Amino acid sequence: MMSVKPYAQAEGSKKEQVTAMFNRIAPKYDFLNHLLSMGIDKLWRRRVVRIVARKKAPVVLDVATGTGDLAIALAGIHPKPTAVYGADISAGMLARAAQKVSKRGLQHTIVLKEADSEALPFTDRFFDAVTVAFGVRNFGDLHQGLCEMNRVLKPGGSLVVLEFSRPHIFPFKQLYGCYFAHVLPWWGGLISKDKEAYDYLPASVLHFPEGKAFEEALVQAGFEVEKSRRQTLGIATIYVAHRPLQ
Ligand SMILES: C[S@@+](CC[C@H](N)C(=O)[O-])C[C@H]1O[C@@H](n2cnc3c(N)ncnc32)[C@H](O)[C@@H]1O
Repeated sequence: MMSVKPYAQAEGSKKEQVTAMFNRIAPKYDFLNHLLSMGIDKLWRRRVVRIVARKKAPVVLDVATGTGDLAIALAGIHPKPTAVYGADISAGMLARAAQKVSKRGLQHTIVLKEADSEALPFTDRFFDAVTVAFGVRNFGDLHQGLCEMNRVLKPGGSLVVLEFSRPHIFPFKQLYGCYFAHVLPWWGGLISKDKEAYDYLPASVLHFPEGKAFEEALVQAGFEVEKSRRQTLGIATIYVAHRPLQ
């Protein structure tokens, strides 16, 4: 699958461009996210949290945590995790996350770290569970990012990935395709003042492996896939996998 960069005509690697893009859109990210998804993104994150809750994981890492919504939701699991780490490459996104974490008094549970998913600053076998929501599609090197998540998981530890996918059912496929390719970039560009960032969103989803192809990428990185569940007619998919015991 071809990897797309946010600013096709500009200099810099995909990773550099993605970091710059998220730093730029960070102040508007939450507002636009909930508006353009009509709030469905919150429902999907809640499902990820329920899966992690069933795994009874005391130490959790949320990769590409962005403005921290998933890390904050994970900190609310009962019994409470001992620690939730949130790692992200964008300082701008993490600054928003830090504000939200301290507003909720969660600074003793949530540890935010500026870090690249392809070189995570954690020792091997440290985490009981790793999550990543709408992050893997943005990695410069998907295989390396998945291998890193595998490395920092304890054997038997779980990975839960939430990522956009493509609806297959007529006529929803066509209607959603039109919204995603035309309406969403127009609104996103207008509000964020970064049209290319919201052109990149549908382009990156179109060129990203979904379903069996993503499961294959997980296996290549050393995971055993437990299940994939398409969400809301296939707009997104939740993948659950674990690091094998041996
Ligand atoms: C679409 S946002 C998702 C944020 C958050 N997980 C959510 O659900 O709202 C993607 C995030 O991935 C981060 N990201 C992209 N590439 C990364 C990398 N190589 N390492 C760490 N974070 C990365 C971006 O900075 C951005 O915050």
